[in-house]
Amino acid sequence: MDRILIRGGRRLSGRLPISGAKNAALTLLPCALLTDEPLTLRNLPRLADVDSFGHLLNQFGVSTLVEGSRPEDFGRVMTMRAGRLTGTTAPYDIVRKMRASILVLGPLVGRAGEATVSLPGGCAIGNRPIDLHLKALEAIGARIEFTAGYVKASAPRSTAGGGRLAGGRYSFPVVSVGATENVVMAAVTARGGSRIENAAREPEIVDLCRCLVAMGARIDGIGTETLEIEGVDRLHGATYAVMPDRIEAGSYACAAAITGGDLELAGVTADDLRATLDALAAAGVTVEERRGNVRVAATGRIGPLTLSTAPYPGFATDMQAQFMAMLALATGASVLTETIFENRYMHVPELARMGADIQVRGRTAVVRGVDRLAGAPVMATDLRASMSLVLAGLAAEGETQVSRVYHLDRGYERLEEKLSAVGADIERVGDG
Ligand code: UD1
Repeated sequence: MDRILIRGGRRLSGRLPISGAKNAALTLLPCALLTDEPLTLRNLPRLADVDSFGHLLNQFGVSTLVEGSRPEDFGRVMTMRAGRLTGTTAPYDIVRKMRASILVLGPLVGRAGEATVSLPGGCAIGNRPIDLHLKALEAIGARIEFTAGYVKASAPRSTAGGGRLAGGRYSFPVVSVGATENVVMAAVTARGGSRIENAAREPEIVDLCRCLVAMGARIDGIGTETLEIEGVDRLHGATYAVMPDRIEAGSYACAAAITGGDLELAGVTADDLRATLDALAAAGVTVEERRGNVRVAATGRIGPLTLSTAPYPGFATDMQAQFMAMLALATGASVLTETIFENRYMHVPELARMGADIQVRGRTAVVRGVDRLAGAPVMATDLRASMSLVLAGLAAEGETQVSRVYHLDRGYERLEEKLSAVGADIERVGDG
């Protein structure tokens, strides 16, 4: 299995291109199921999860064509066409590897009147149930049944034939990104209207809604917590560019800060990462917004912070691990509170092995800044935790080996290439 080898202590500087957003891609890809016409997505990141999602779509008879991209280019263009669906079941083998597979449930039931998806099972960052996905779908007319590890959603059949959801109203008791995405994708072709309250407002949801509108959907309140959707009889094809990855951008912003560096993050929508940029500024990092670019420069040591994760527009849980690595080298004590996922501190013992001083009590972590970290062999059990170890490795003295690189490959397009281009001493090595 590959490992990432980092010799720390290099100051990063230069221009670093930001890829298309993984989490937006994973909700835009299933939109292809909603129409028999082609959906072309541009700026798709080259990531393992995107490939896996393509394979999942193939299972339903969706053709996928990747065009005109040279290996040296970042991003790619994919055209999907779901002319006729040949299946409506997402099997265990795929769902267990990629939790986001649950996002086919809404569009499949919307288009085909039924969908069967394996229950995702355990997940490294907590329990992550799908009850809200199912409750929201039920509220807009789906019937939900469970059989041997699978959940089936179906729409009532009319005398005219295929089932179609009625539409309805649902108010989320807890903000859920995935459940909002699923119900929106199911509601756009319902017979009637739907009103979704306490919807997630993440930029990736805005991206999803904009793509659906480009396909002919009628959605009001985009970017707010109340979405009003008027079902349409059919959607058509479209070409849509995936938004920039705000979490990738935030992660590299932390890389600039932790190495005392100066990076220009290219192709970024600063508003999408406002909470991250505000937190960096509060820690004493210089943040300059330019059209489509953000410059992040460290002017000295990082100051301590008190941060609590929250749904958008709050501080993203997907940035918590990276900030923890950075704050491990701060001039004082920081307090981080994780409110979204339980068990999202698995990077803590690994950071501690590199010399970080972190104490976790329940959902809160107290990070006492130290003067230096020391390189070590480390491994992590999830994507963002792995990135926090890479960041610590960039700043640490000596060599850090990060194993289980497949986590990083799920979410960071050509990480070692991007980082070495701005001065990091980083390489991927195989075991062989
Ligand atoms: C998405 C992101 C993930 C990010 C998270 C929160 C993707 C592919 N993943 O995950 O990177 O960390 O948003 O910003 O876009 N919950 C329930 N029942 C449900 C669904 C969720 O109780 O049916 C709970 C979860 O356990 C969690 C909270 O709601 O505590 C928020 O989870 P959710 O927003 O749904 O996260 P995901 O969509 O899984």
